[in-house]
Amino acid sequence: MSEREQHTPPLPAPSLWPIGFAIGIACVLVGLVVSTAALVIGLVVTLVFGGLWVRDLAGKRPPAVAAAPKPAMATEADLNATTDRATFLSLATVGVGGLIGAGVTLPALGFGVLPSFVGDRVETKEVDLGPISNFPEGQYVIATYLEDPDLGEVTRRTAFVRNNGRTEAGEPSFTTIFSRCVHLGCPVQPNGPIDEEARQEVNGVELRPVLAASFGCPCHGGLYDSEGNRNAGPPVRSLDRYEFSIRNGNLILGRLFSVGDVDGTGAKARISKYYRAYPGVHVDGIEKWLYPIPTPGSTS
Ligand code: FES
Repeated sequence: MSEREQHTPPLPAPSLWPIGFAIGIACVLVGLVVSTAALVIGLVVTLVFGGLWVRDLAGKRPPAVAAAPKPAMATEADLNATTDRATFLSLATVGVGGLIGAGVTLPALGFGVLPSFVGDRVETKEVDLGPISNFPEGQYVIATYLEDPDLGEVTRRTAFVRNNGRTEAGEPSFTTIFSRCVHLGCPVQPNGPIDEEARQEVNGVELRPVLAASFGCPCHGGLYDSEGNRNAGPPVRSLDRYEFSIRNGNLILGRLFSVGDVDGTGAKARISKYYRAYPGVHVDGIEKWLYPIPTPGSTS
C-alpha cells in the first residue's frame, strides 16, 4: 500500500437514504397531480429519508484517522480539519441544491397545479331578481344583469331560471343555471323561442321568458339538456349553477357552484355539487384525477 493510500481517510459506506429521498420527491410530484394521499405519503417519505441522509452525512467520522500512520507533515488536527471540511461541503451541496430545486419547482407547481384543487373561490355578488311571481312555474326565464354596474357591460351575466314549484319538503325550488359554457366559457343559448313581448325589467335585471327544451353553445357545438346536463360536444360537465334564496318574496342569486351531473328533473333533481371549477375542468369521476389542470386560456 502506498503512503498516500495509507493516509487517505476511507470513504463513507454507500447509503440507501438518497434513493429513498428521491422516491419521496417523485411521490410528491405525482401526488400533486393525482391524489392528496400520494402527496402526503411522498412528503413523509421525503422528510424521513432526507433527515436520515443529513444525519448520516453529519455523523460519519471515518474511524481510520486514528489508526492510520501519521504522515510526516500532517498532524491529527490537520486530518480532523479535512474531515470537517468534507462534511461541511457535503451538507452545503445538499442544502444549496435543495434550495435551488425548491425555488425553481415550487412556483411553477403552485401556478400550474393548485388552481385545479382550490377552484374558483372568488365571491359572487348577490343579485336580486325581483319577486318570485315574475317566474311562472315550469318555465325558464332568461335573467340578464350587470354583476358590477360600475364596471359596465364587461360584467354582464345571464342566468336561466326556472320555477319548479315546491320540493316534497315544501321548500321553494328553482333551477338557476349560469349561461357560461363549461367547455371554454362561451355564452350558452337556450334552444327555444323567446317571448320578447313579455320582456320586463326589474331592479336593473332584464327578464325574458323562453321555452327552453335544451341549451346549446355556438362556439364548438356543446349541447346540454333542460337540466344543464351535458348531452353532446366537448363540454366536460354539466352547466354551473347559482345558489339561491328567497328574501322578502324576492329571488336572490348567490354563489356559483359547479355540477357533476343532475339526476332527475325540477324539484326532484339530485345535484352533484362541487366548488366552482374553471371551464374545461372535470369535477368528478376518474377524469378529475387524470385531467386536474385547467384548460389554458379558459375563462370563468
Ligand atoms: S365553448 Fe362551448 S362548446 Fe366550446
